[in-house]
Amino acid sequence: MSAAGNFHVAIIMDGNGRWAQRRGMPRSAGHVQGAKMVRRVVEASARAGIRTLTLYAFSADNWGRPSPEVDSLLRLLQCYLASETRRCLRNSVRINVIGRRDRLPASLVRAIEHSERLTAHCTRMRLRIAVDYSSKHSILEAARRASASGLSAQSFESLLAEVDHSAVESGPVDLLIRTGGEQRLSDFLLWDCAYAELYFTDVLWPDFGEAGLHAALEDFAGRQRRFGKVLAETA
Ligand code: IPE
Ligand code: IPE
Ligand code: MG
Repeated sequence: MSAAGNFHVAIIMDGNGRWAQRRGMPRSAGHVQGAKMVRRVVEASARAGIRTLTLYAFSADNWGRPSPEVDSLLRLLQCYLASETRRCLRNSVRINVIGRRDRLPASLVRAIEHSERLTAHCTRMRLRIAVDYSSKHSILEAARRASASGLSAQSFESLLAEVDHSAVESGPVDLLIRTGGEQRLSDFLLWDCAYAELYFTDVLWPDFGEAGLHAALEDFAGRQRRFGKVLAETA
């Protein structure tokens, strides 16, 4: 689907809180429903031939939410890893959590390392989950490590991957999806989305489903990507 044969889709999974509030439920109930949707969309993505799927689960700015919500989000993530790692193994999905690890609870870091180790040999699809992630922080940190060494853009990308704990360089994002109606990146994959096709939908994440993914892929299939050139040169 992409020129590199590594079709990379990234999703900003937004709208859990509103989904719950519309039903008179606490925001945390929306996060529980959102986590269920992650499992369905991961499996649908593997079936659709996506090679790399990067999901925004918890941004560095999300630490600013009330602490019960932060705790429930981090707990949910740990539960997700505990329950989904075997399923990913069966489906040959490699798990990789990107973002900072120095501010996460030690038990969550251990769970992340365990899931990454168990699925390290899986090749069908790469599932990258962004946790305590800030694109600006990653770029600044990579720049700090690169300072004064005259690195090429390619070497800079490997430094970025190192900063993000990205097991392998993921390549650029082909399609960036954001659910929940907002049309912004919220500090997600700023470098990687340089030529991404952007797809925004009002559907809230817990309602997204396989149908939502297919609608986005269909929309993407109709896009004309030129990468700054004229069409004949991009063929
Ligand atoms: C996305 O849903 C999940 C995270 C940001 C962790 P939100 O919790 O942002 O839901 P809304 O945007 O308030 O509806
Ligand atoms: C972006 O959603 C982060 C995740 C989906 C994890 P937010 O709800 O935190 O973003 P803003 O505040 O609307 O920009
Ligand atoms: Mg939100």
